[in-house]
Amino acid sequence: MIDQDIWVLASHNPGKIRELQALLASRGIALKGAAGLGLDEPEETESTFEGNAALKAKAAWQATGLTCLSDDSGLSVDALGGDPGIYSARWAGEARDFDMAMARVQEALLASGAADRTARFVCVVALCRADGTLVHYRGEVVGEIVWPPRGEGGFGYDAIFQPHGHDRTFAQMSAAEKRAMSHRGRALEALVAAEFGR
Ligand code: IMP
Repeated sequence: MIDQDIWVLASHNPGKIRELQALLASRGIALKGAAGLGLDEPEETESTFEGNAALKAKAAWQATGLTCLSDDSGLSVDALGGDPGIYSARWAGEARDFDMAMARVQEALLASGAADRTARFVCVVALCRADGTLVHYRGEVVGEIVWPPRGEGGFGYDAIFQPHGHDRTFAQMSAAEKRAMSHRGRALEALVAAEFGR
């Protein structure tokens, strides 16, 4: 169990930072971003969401000795064998061009010839406690890839992901609406339930 109310968030991604800060603020936890603390972003050398999340949380803990949270997430498309998956950020290139990355998903789906457009956002949150022990929590949201992209909100692949049971993409939803059903929200809920028992 954790009694600290300031955690380090081992991420430099402003979209994720905003979402995680909002999710944890309601639990009375303030997050300090890695960039604000001058922490480097370690290279994601593992082959799973769990491995990369652990690597980031551990590196931030080694640098600060504080409770550190990290998130590794991505879009996994069934007909593409789970791609872009852990490579979701890398598909956008150095320039972080997500218009290009979304077009690449659409092109790969067309090239695959698959009619199935099922995809899921996956998020694994790793928590490295101040004593160095590490735990993971996973959240997923299932939906489908739509084309063309729709909506101006969110970040990354939000404009081509429409969660099942909805007729709008994540980019067409308010931040609060997305948080309530997102992979990141679900991973955080699992963390809060396990770590705080509420
Ligand atoms: P990483 O976890 O920093 O390796 O990056 C994951 C990448 O997956 C992000 O840069 C986004 O491209 C994508 N991604 C993760 N979560 C979301 C989301 O909630 N919406 C849209 N794209 C996301």
